[in-house]
Amino acid sequence: MTANESHQPFLARHQFLIYRLFSLAGLVPVGAFLVVHLLTNASVLGGAKSFQDRVDLIHSLGPLLVPIEWAFIFLPMLFHAAVGFLIIASGLPNVGSYAYVGNVRYAMQRATGMIAFVFIIAHVLQLHWLGRPFGGGHFDPHHATSSAAENLRSLPVTLLYVVGLLSTVFHFANGLWTLGITWGLWTSPAAMRRANWISVAVGVLLAAAGLGAIGGLQGVNIKDAVKVEDQMLRRARLDDDTNHATTSTALAPVSAAQP
Ligand code: HEM
Repeated sequence: MTANESHQPFLARHQFLIYRLFSLAGLVPVGAFLVVHLLTNASVLGGAKSFQDRVDLIHSLGPLLVPIEWAFIFLPMLFHAAVGFLIIASGLPNVGSYAYVGNVRYAMQRATGMIAFVFIIAHVLQLHWLGRPFGGGHFDPHHATSSAAENLRSLPVTLLYVVGLLSTVFHFANGLWTLGITWGLWTSPAAMRRANWISVAVGVLLAAAGLGAIGGLQGVNIKDAVKVEDQMLRRARLDDDTNHATTSTALAPVSAAQP
């Protein structure tokens, strides 16, 4: 490090590394999570059982779920958002990528990042248990479809979700393209055009999955969904009790197990 560099602020000195980590975090784990999350939600189109099965699978992680969420979703997302805001405030210049990007897309990438930020906070407060101290946290993992449907029924909330979802999906899909430039994956104009089509396809697919889930929840009969979910919950508890009893019998001393 030269004497001149050592006088620069931390962000300016480590700009290259921070920008690479920011870009990578947008793809994995945050972008990968977004894809899995939207596809999981779209399973509501297959009925209450189909969505509940997937939610149960996620919650079968038990006590590991919270540290996994923080390590692979919340912290990387906060890091990406914090650096994103710094870039927007021009604390960090964008490293040489945007000679190629149209002005509109460049501005939209930043605008949708900020909309995604507000939307994700509202969404977490409304449905995730982290929102409970603030009067939110309304998603019940044992009643996945009915609780989500109940909370997405009003027109303002539905509109908020449509705008938030489309902004987040645009941000990710367009971000895939700019990411390829950041990492030097597509350098010729022809390769950039091909990559552009891939980004559009990813965006359309994810928008369809997300809008499908929002639309699917509007059509749910909440009473029927609760019946299906209660039945699944009873069966799961019965299975748990049976497994518990089998384990206790197997572990019990032979004399105690005999009549
Ligand atoms: C689901 C959430 C998000 C995902 C999946 C995501 C993903 C991405 C990806 C893949 C990129 C491209 C990186 C590159 O060009 O190398 C990107 C860029 C960007 N993101 Fe995000 N992002 C998310 C949320 C946010 C939030 C909340 C902000 C806060 C403002 C933000 C701000 C930005 C900015 C400013 C850029 C453009 C950087 C530049 O111009 O060089 N992102 N994002």
